[in-house]
Amino acid sequence: MNDKKRVAKHAASLVKDGMVVGLGTGSTADCFITELARRKTEEGLQVSTVSSSVVSMLKAQALGLSMIAIEHLTKLDLYVDGADEVTPNNTLMKGQGADLVREKLLARASKQFIVLVDQSKMVKHIGDKFPVPIEVMPFAWQLVKQSLEAIGGEGGLRPNSDGNGLAVTSHGSLVLDMRFDQKMDSSQLDSLLNSTPGVVEHGIFYQLADVVLLVIDNKVQELTLK
Ligand code: A5P
Repeated sequence: MNDKKRVAKHAASLVKDGMVVGLGTGSTADCFITELARRKTEEGLQVSTVSSSVVSMLKAQALGLSMIAIEHLTKLDLYVDGADEVTPNNTLMKGQGADLVREKLLARASKQFIVLVDQSKMVKHIGDKFPVPIEVMPFAWQLVKQSLEAIGGEGGLRPNSDGNGLAVTSHGSLVLDMRFDQKMDSSQLDSLLNSTPGVVEHGIFYQLADVVLLVIDNKVQELTLK
């Protein structure tokens, strides 16, 4: 069993009958959806799910998980997702998959947010490995970029996977991938991005994760840091 499957299995074992569970996006979240569906089929686990992206929705639907549209959600017991970076104080960077808006909405709404990672995702500072993804209203991208450059940001619009156009999120936004001075504290950057007009959402998840499940040497460790 690989690390993603191992950590996903551990997370799925924490799900209880009657829970409403948020499904993340990405290869690790994908393993979680598979394991949740297996528990439903083989163990009769009763859960409702809500997805953070069209991709996760299609996967959950294909595996027979019952789904609630995010518009109809009134409570969320658990949200389970991967991350691109995790710092020692549990700050996350997400959004390489460009589904930030729903991901952060579910992370914030959930009673518990569990993050699934392996050691390759652990970093000292946000931005050590990836630029910060910033979803912007399409008409605002140039002005937002200028605002971000004024606070030391460097970067540009994310190209699409074919390289012949721009990446567009499932929310219809463009994405600016920006690097910032590593001396800038992630809580400070989080506040600055939150208050920049034209920014729809960004990839810094500050004080949102309740538990980080980290696989080291085939063993799952629970990091509860707040
Ligand atoms: C999706 O937008 C991202 O936030 C993912 O959660 C992140 O990219 C992790 O994906 P993997 O599990 O595929 O590494």
